[in-house]
Amino acid sequence: MFKIIRKRVLAPNITEMRVLAPAVAESARPGQFVIVLTDKYGERIPLTICDYSPEEGWVTIVTQSIGYSTTKINCMEEGDSFADFVGPLGNPTDLMEKSDEELRKMRILFVAGGVGTAPVYPQAKWLKSRGVECDVIIGAKTKSLFTYVDEMKEVARVHLCTDDGSEGFHGMVTGLMDKLVEQDGLKFDHCVAIGPMIMMKFATMTAKKHGIPTMVSLNALMVDGTGMCGACRVSVGGKTRFTCVEGPEFDGWEVDFDEAMRRQNMYRENPKTHWELKECTCLPK
Ligand code: NAD
Ligand code: FES
Repeated sequence: MFKIIRKRVLAPNITEMRVLAPAVAESARPGQFVIVLTDKYGERIPLTICDYSPEEGWVTIVTQSIGYSTTKINCMEEGDSFADFVGPLGNPTDLMEKSDEELRKMRILFVAGGVGTAPVYPQAKWLKSRGVECDVIIGAKTKSLFTYVDEMKEVARVHLCTDDGSEGFHGMVTGLMDKLVEQDGLKFDHCVAIGPMIMMKFATMTAKKHGIPTMVSLNALMVDGTGMCGACRVSVGGKTRFTCVEGPEFDGWEVDFDEAMRRQNMYRENPKTHWELKECTCLPK
């Protein structure tokens, strides 16, 4: 069993949980993910690792309630335990393959959308520990939905934007990418986009327009997480790749986002016939 030792509500329907999992914390690297199981009847849910401490043996996950299982996770409290917490799975970010000298010569831009902000944090934190300060665009629909802004400001140069203009640049992450490059004259050598699939598609197109190589972290549907079932397959450069064992990060310029979005929506249930989310009263709506 894997005990929740801290729970914070970050925004409506979004929680952060610190989970005791010493073996996972020991070998976790930025960019990897875990698969969690609330109880023996639960569904296996993949979640990107948002922070970890090998010294204290914990791993942090951030979950947005979007269906039955994610809501069930968010209803768990401090002291409760996950039946299973498997990981670290997938590959660490490609940036870890570069030397400190190479990294320090690069200007790296992260584009974080909504809940995708938390998985950017371990990468920015790791870069800071190598002496590299990166730029992070954080986009949210409105300012109350921002998460991890204070944490991110400690490790990176942060640029905020909101769809409704309530804070920072008024517009989507792609508008702010254009502004930083075209108006502010910033030159980026590498981009990493993490967030909703549609955002990653358009962030990649915008980065490509500016000639910036871009990695994206694909949150494909997963079942076993070990490369056996094929549920997480995506097309990258015309070839079938398995997100769980070959990703989750892929070259955005090569990803077939339209196919990935079709597959992601394949099992989306009609909310009217699905579990009554209104039963959940423990989180602010
Ligand atoms: P959201 O819909 O509020 O979008 C966040 C930001 O992304 C927006 O503010 C906007 O700036 C940008 N964006 C959205 N659509 C865009 C478009 N068409 N063009 C340009 N920019 C666009 O995000 P949310 O509700 O927090 O996201 C939830 C989704 O993120 C879930 O589907 C979840 O599965 C996914 N997610 C992905 C990862 C990952 O590893 N890729 C991690 C966590 C969450
Ligand atoms: Fe089954 Fe990746 S989740 S192959």
